[in-house]
Amino acid sequence: MNKAINIIKDEHRSISAVLSGLKELARMAEDAPERPDFRVFRAMLRYIDEFPEKMHHPKEDRYLFARLLARLPSAQPLIDKLQKEHIEGVRLIRDLERSLLFLEDRWPVGSRDFRKLADDYARFHWDHMRREEGEILPLAVLHLRAADWEAIEGAFAGNDDPIADLREKDFQVLFSRIASLAPAPIGLGEPWKKTV
Ligand SMILES: [Fe+2]
Ligand SMILES: [Fe+2]
Repeated sequence: MNKAINIIKDEHRSISAVLSGLKELARMAEDAPERPDFRVFRAMLRYIDEFPEKMHHPKEDRYLFARLLARLPSAQPLIDKLQKEHIEGVRLIRDLERSLLFLEDRWPVGSRDFRKLADDYARFHWDHMRREEGEILPLAVLHLRAADWEAIEGAFAGNDDPIADLREKDFQVLFSRIASLAPAPIGLGEPWKKTV
């Protein structure tokens, strides 16, 4: 398997881990009598907003999808669908952020809505990544050439963009922060404490 595909799949795994954590903590926030530690939700939403939405998806659009389209014009409908999902993802994350602000202010009011939005977003994003891994990557393997893979790998590895490379390191720090704030069984943080 080539390096570009490994990087893309690794990024999907990291995104997926945060989505699982978000989904589980949103469930805990709805069911538990303890006030959640909202820092972990803010860190998770920041991660999703900045990593998949602002880096991973734009790199797919500009490199993977663009190169595949040039080699295989019949992939247009599939690529259109995935690009629409990239745009839709940005809208959904704004809804989640609004819901989190409300929940933090009025907890426990709003916990059911927040959980539903978190579930919907996780499902939406998992379906999206599944389509990329199950449909786009196999087509790319068949139709892209060495020069295409080099360009894609350069973009995803951050080799041609020192700022992107620095930002990737920020995400690793943010990812560790999520793990250190999230209570068990999601992470290694303190349990949420009773407030009454
Ligand atoms: Fe994508
Ligand atoms: Fe992706």
